[in-house]
Amino acid sequence: MRAITVPQPGGPDALAWVEVPDPEPGPGEVVVDVRASGVNRADLLQRQGHYPPPPGAPDHPGLECSGVISVIGPEVTGWAVGQQVCALLAGGGYAERVAVPAGQLLPVPAGVDLVDAAALPEVACTVWSNVVREGRLRSGETLLVHGGGSGIGTFAVQLGVALGATVLATARSAKHPRLRELGAAHVIDYREQDFVEEVRRVTDGHGADVVLDIMGASYLGRNVAALATGGRLVVIGLQGGRKAELDLGALLTKRASVTATTLRARPLAEKAEIVRGVRDEVWPLVEAGEVRPVVDRRLPITEAPQAHRLVESNDHVGKVLLTIG
Ligand SMILES: NC(=O)c1ccc[n+]([C@@H]2O[C@H](COP(=O)([O-])OP(=O)(O)OC[C@H]3O[C@@H](n4cnc5c(N)ncnc54)[C@H](OP(=O)(O)O)[C@@H]3O)[C@@H](O)[C@H]2O)c1
Repeated sequence: MRAITVPQPGGPDALAWVEVPDPEPGPGEVVVDVRASGVNRADLLQRQGHYPPPPGAPDHPGLECSGVISVIGPEVTGWAVGQQVCALLAGGGYAERVAVPAGQLLPVPAGVDLVDAAALPEVACTVWSNVVREGRLRSGETLLVHGGGSGIGTFAVQLGVALGATVLATARSAKHPRLRELGAAHVIDYREQDFVEEVRRVTDGHGADVVLDIMGASYLGRNVAALATGGRLVVIGLQGGRKAELDLGALLTKRASVTATTLRARPLAEKAEIVRGVRDEVWPLVEAGEVRPVVDRRLPITEAPQAHRLVESNDHVGKVLLTIG
């Protein structure tokens, strides 16, 4: 089969569409013939040599895909050849075929196109596990989503609204109209405005009950300042660095918490548990049309370098998909 590989770490042109060995399904795995794969920020880091795949994962990038099951491996029950699926992957989605642990498969939700389904697994699993499970967001609360126009952000805004929260988001101003369409109650231009002041102003001083953060160090102090009493800050990205000082007194008086998680490195059993939670709690919202895949663009997989340039520029809103065949 062919796959996008990274013979030498580097810029977008380091991505090469070449012949590689076909995947063999191990016990508990199926093979999916890939129809589309989502581009994630982490793929850019992997291409640059900063984010090696975890042990056992394919070398080539791709953290999610959609497609059709073509082989059922040993010890797999409940799935059939020919079934349309999407899947959370530890790697290898930028390829014609990929072996997937059955616990990381999801059916394509009713009403969602097979290609667009590739936009869902990574964001649905990341956002649900961090906002609902770690952040314990409840109806009536306020959720602040940083990077509202990202793949993660566009999903988090919709999920927060569907769960009955008031959603605030940060983004550059060009992305504000789209975020309002997705249900954000207030959008903050983080380049021009102080998001802490804005959050306090629009919540009448209450603050955000949950903050979903992708910046890390550069936002840590301000995120804690924006939290409500009893608030939960969940860090999932380190685009603003990994080391910062924190005034624990500010956390203490607010009885607030800071959590940080990553999905890719979790053991298989934990990923499978998150995928089950997404299927039970998020898929009904997708099928009801309350949460939809937000796809900025589809590009043929041979244009993967262009897709990486687009994501690097941050000019996209939602997900960029690579299509195969
Ligand atoms: N921990 C996990 O398990 C996990 C899983 C998936 C993703 N992530 C992380 O989640 C983040 C989003 O991933 P993605 O693939 O959805 O990314 P993406 O679509 O490439 O988006 C990146 C976003 O960062 C925003 N941004 C840049 N500087 C900002 C700032 N100072 N304040 C607010 N927003 C800013 C950009 O928004 P503007 O264009 O508005 O500037 C852009 O929308 C990444 O950091 C990624 O590593 C973590």
